[in-house]
Amino acid sequence: MSGHIEERDYDEYRVIEDLGGWRRSHHNNELTSANIGDQVTLMGWVQFRRDHGGLIFIDLRDREGLTQVVFSPEHNQDVHERAHALRTEYVLAIKGTVGPRPEGMTNANLVTGEIEVLVDEYKLLNTSETPPFPIEDRVEAGENLRLKYRFLDLRRPALAKNFILRNKAAQSARRYLDGLGFLEVETPVLTKSTPEGARDFLVPSRVNQGQFYALPQSPQLFKQMLMVSGLDKYFQIVKCFRDEDLRADRQPEFTQIDIEMSFADEALIQDMAEGLVTNMFRDTLGHELPTPFPRMTYAEAIRDYGVDKPDVRFDLKLVEVTDIFQGGGFKVFAAAELVKVMKVPGGAELSRKEIDEFTKYVEIYGSKGLAWIKVKEDGEWQSPIVKFFSDDEKAKLQERVQLEPGDILFFQAGQADIANTALGNLRVKMGERFELIDESVFAPLWVTDFPLLEYDADEKRYVARHHPFTSAQPDQMKTLASDPGNALARAYDLVLNGYEVGGGSIRIHTPEQQQIMFKALGIDEAEAREKFGFLMDALKFGAPPHGGIAFGLDRLIMILCGAKSIRDVIAFPKTQKATCMMTEAPSEVANTQLREVGIRLREKVQEKE
Ligand code: AMO
Ligand code: AMP
Repeated sequence: MSGHIEERDYDEYRVIEDLGGWRRSHHNNELTSANIGDQVTLMGWVQFRRDHGGLIFIDLRDREGLTQVVFSPEHNQDVHERAHALRTEYVLAIKGTVGPRPEGMTNANLVTGEIEVLVDEYKLLNTSETPPFPIEDRVEAGENLRLKYRFLDLRRPALAKNFILRNKAAQSARRYLDGLGFLEVETPVLTKSTPEGARDFLVPSRVNQGQFYALPQSPQLFKQMLMVSGLDKYFQIVKCFRDEDLRADRQPEFTQIDIEMSFADEALIQDMAEGLVTNMFRDTLGHELPTPFPRMTYAEAIRDYGVDKPDVRFDLKLVEVTDIFQGGGFKVFAAAELVKVMKVPGGAELSRKEIDEFTKYVEIYGSKGLAWIKVKEDGEWQSPIVKFFSDDEKAKLQERVQLEPGDILFFQAGQADIANTALGNLRVKMGERFELIDESVFAPLWVTDFPLLEYDADEKRYVARHHPFTSAQPDQMKTLASDPGNALARAYDLVLNGYEVGGGSIRIHTPEQQQIMFKALGIDEAEAREKFGFLMDALKFGAPPHGGIAFGLDRLIMILCGAKSIRDVIAFPKTQKATCMMTEAPSEVANTQLREVGIRLREKVQEKE
């Protein structure tokens, strides 16, 4: 009998119908026992069809969830017969009656798990080919295949829910900022280079051949212009474009909640920003973040955590030991600019293989090795390097870090920035390896007092750490020329669970100070005029003191969703290689199109050299 059913293809029932005036009464996550007896109309996709002793069950899916619908031969023979033709991902509209699921058939994992809908009539709205991967919350298909068929991947409620939350978060931000009198103003996308430290994406101009627009790395200068205009408080939820190497928390186009305020100092902007973030957490997760957020200076962050965006959900701290080994017997440490250690309780259980993996990991940050000491149960130190230490060095080390049985102590020695970054990032790995991180905790943190400038060894000049429009702290603008390395910026970053989710500053608002800044950066007057002439002009005409901040919306949403990558919260993200698997962008263009914008490609051969 069942063989007979399998052999039939039921093509005669695959007739696509119009909606014919049907209106959806509920989403597929809504019906509960409270609706029993109700007549409902549902729409959605066939997640799964099961034939059971005459009954046909279908899990009907929409973006919100699943509802089980039942086709019964006793209830309606014709409808049941036609339902044999239904396959995965067919699109249906059903009308039916809500009933309780039979004893033992309820599903506690599903909001609609206590009910099912007995189908009176249905319309087949479309058929579907078999999808390249099953559309289920448990995903096994590789990410590239899922990105190629992103429109199918987004059908999964687990992914769709990220966009529902993203919408809530964006609306929450809009409501909050509107309530405070911020104006949402759009700024150009075809514009001039805006220095935020990444490469620009360029757009050739057809009308002005040989000239290019740059896509904005941020609306930084436009929002400052709006302050000069007297618009007072601006915000925009805005796409920014940066041609930089991608990571799990970086995309070439991403979204900022971009904000600027006139007559504001750091405290006012930080208060406003805390309100925005706490509202967003409340409106999406119902979670109360305690305010004010804790504050830490950049110097403290580097000292204790090695990085400027510490994950303060767990307590491991780095300790400097340079002085102990200076000029000593272990050459690697003796002459190092910085020697720092991190003690991990329980870390003695790490295998050689794991330590080798961590050694490889810190190499990413330029580290030259990862020395360690394990403390055995009897207190003995096991280590490839202690044989080089004098008794005095060992005693001082013990006094400083208080090693106990079961501990491991990791060392980083060398150039300060490399040693700090390597050990700071290893710290996060240790947090994961030893499950020190409570995933239900959110730990916001202001990092303040950043250096204004940093030395770029490749370019052999100072560059702005934030951007060249950031003001120095009081009085430090004066000493900028003589002591550029030590000036601190009126800049602040908002860090959440180890991610930089926002950054901003109080800006320079006089042409004199802006000129001093450009000079410190090695930008001469001609270059300043060419690149930022409009800014220099604007600052001459009564620019009010102003400042602002921009949040990385994608990163905030990623954290709110508990996602591991911002790709999971961007509808159509790009791969590590900055391509779109679905549209296959970027792509070659026709020669005619190139000719129109006055571009001729270099020979492929030349390109390879
Ligand atoms: P900044 O460059 O710090 O500041 O950027 C602000 C925030 O944007 C997010 N972000 C990114 N998110 C995803 N992918 C990227 N490639 C990416 N780059 C940055 C981060 C970051 O904190 N104009 C200034 C803001 C200001 O001074 O007001 C600016 O753009 O979360
Ligand atoms: P070597 O003398 O180079 O064989 O190194 C001895 C140990 O010190 C090895 O465990 C290395 O991983 C480690 N080591 C080497 N260079 C450094 C460094 N710059 N910082 C920390 N550990 C290092």
